[in-house]
Amino acid sequence: MRIDIVTIFPEFFDVLDISLLGKARQSGLIDLGVHNLRDHTHDRHRTVDDTPYGGGAGMVMKPEPWGEAFDAILDPATDDVATDDVATDDPATDDAATDDVAVDLPVVIFPSPAGEVFNQAMAKELALEKHLVFGCGRYEGIDQRVIDDTATKARVRMVSLGDYVLNGGEVAVMAMIEAIGRLIPGVVGNPASLVEESHENGLLEYPSYTKPASWRGREVPPVLLSGNHGAIAAWRHDQQVERTRRVRPDLLPAANSEE
Ligand code: ADE
Repeated sequence: MRIDIVTIFPEFFDVLDISLLGKARQSGLIDLGVHNLRDHTHDRHRTVDDTPYGGGAGMVMKPEPWGEAFDAILDPATDDVATDDVATDDPATDDAATDDVAVDLPVVIFPSPAGEVFNQAMAKELALEKHLVFGCGRYEGIDQRVIDDTATKARVRMVSLGDYVLNGGEVAVMAMIEAIGRLIPGVVGNPASLVEESHENGLLEYPSYTKPASWRGREVPPVLLSGNHGAIAAWRHDQQVERTRRVRPDLLPAANSEE
């Protein structure tokens, strides 16, 4: 999968060099480009924001640098602007960027508290894409015309991490890339470990234990030491239902939560 990120803080994404996603990049499963929005400004101060039309507090991100940055990523053949592209492959040869069938258009994600809420189902859906582009807004957001213009060349989604406000999109993009990246086949060594985790069957995951069987007077639930696989599966399922009902009753169908 090709992933491009446009941000005024490219260093923020240096951590994508490490851990599972770092390995996925080394092995070519993920091909990452991080682009500094300020490389698409043309004034001495490398200005990316301005005051809002209609008044109000805060600053809005100007459309021109964004337009130029997305043109370079979505239509690299016309790119005459330098970018901080740290990709391992040449994006000009990436067929995801040049396909013209709607379903093969890149997906451009604008993290925003005003977007649809990110969840595991969305992560799974996005893990099947060939090309994801993230536009990290700051301040009071990006001029709406950038979103409208990008929607003519890509499938645009505004996505929120949750019902709270961050200072900018970078943290949200890190979270989304981690959630999506680990679902790309080959990224997680043992795919079985993806099956029994929270949100996989609409329930939170069951509690886990390892050795020693007794620690600080706390015992591992005896059923887990019984070797009875049926009983273990039933216990784990009960724990999932109980935990979900207690912590996230909104995830349970109404009938179940009233039981
Ligand atoms: N940018 C600011 N707040 C955000 C949120 N909750 N989700 C995604 N992007 C954001």
